[in-house]
Amino acid sequence: MNKIKKTLFSNNAVTLDNNSLIMAIESSCDETACAIVKGGREVLANVVASQIKIHEAYGGVIPEIAAREHLEAVNVVIEETFKQAGVTGRDISAFAGTVGPGLVGCLLVGLNAAKTLALAYDKPFIGVNHLNAHLAANFIDTELKPPFIALLVSGGHTQIIKVSSYSDMEIIGETIDDAVGEAYDKVARLIGLPYPGGPKLDKLAQEGNPHAFKLPEAKVAEYDFSFSGLKTAVLRLVKSFDGKEMPVKDICASFQECVSSTLFKKVKHALEQSGYKQVVLAGGVAANSEIRKKIFSLKDAGYDVYAPAMKYCTDNASMVASSAFFFNNTFDNIDVEVFSRG
Ligand code: KG4
Ligand code: ZN
Repeated sequence: MNKIKKTLFSNNAVTLDNNSLIMAIESSCDETACAIVKGGREVLANVVASQIKIHEAYGGVIPEIAAREHLEAVNVVIEETFKQAGVTGRDISAFAGTVGPGLVGCLLVGLNAAKTLALAYDKPFIGVNHLNAHLAANFIDTELKPPFIALLVSGGHTQIIKVSSYSDMEIIGETIDDAVGEAYDKVARLIGLPYPGGPKLDKLAQEGNPHAFKLPEAKVAEYDFSFSGLKTAVLRLVKSFDGKEMPVKDICASFQECVSSTLFKKVKHALEQSGYKQVVLAGGVAANSEIRKKIFSLKDAGYDVYAPAMKYCTDNASMVASSAFFFNNTFDNIDVEVFSRG
């Protein structure tokens, strides 16, 4: 039984258990999402309105446009979530919303919607850190409990996190420049793939030779990462073809090999040093085929490996509800303000 005591914004206490329903809203970037999750693990409804099509035309997310789109979508997404779950606001134990990091104008829309629901139904409000939420995606449909080592790879972050308990997590390494997803999107752009390039690059890489080109691995501290040098190396490689036909699939595969083997080595080292037996993948880039393959190969060495289902890797609100349920965070207060950087 998952029994977790949470403090209400009104200074009362509520005990969340396996039957508690949390409704969460996520709007930190270009997805307006709402979900209802039971006991932190069972998804009753997961609704996502993606803006990717709108931002494609600009080659990236335009914050002002994104915020306006969230505003247009948020009420429809909330209504659809209640409908799919077959419950009303009165059935919800607590409402949760993403506080940050993310685009401030975007975060404000979802967070205020979640706070308003909490006030209207007189239920507790739980503010959630977007990065914790990505980790919590691994609680959905599993029995996972800390301790574990997490590899968080998204468009904005690349971190190795030592999660000792629900209330104790430490970032033991992170990127000193580009995030993995950012590197994927930039390299995809270099070779002419449309935004968001990460998934498209991954697809092409699967058909190429990963050893066609030797690309440089950055030399940085124990668990840290750096991908800007690799990006420059790919740029040089692309330029070297100067008008001649470019072996796009081989370039993608070689880039993917370099990134995934760096991530793999550092995660393995963190597991060995910590003595932990569980490893979890999280963030949008956890959808990457080769990164998944390499991290899952740790099963052969006796580790338990977790990665969210594809739909819970990229931004969604089920992971926010799960994070609100499991992780003890400092935002359980209706006055909490959004923040942009984590
Ligand atoms: O976590 P997420 O949805 O948003 C952030 O919080 O950043 O991650 C989005 C990032 C984008 O950079 C996208 O290109 C990348 O995840 N991504 C991938 C793949 N699927 C999504 N990168 C590489 N391979 C993929 N299969
Ligand atoms: Zn994200």
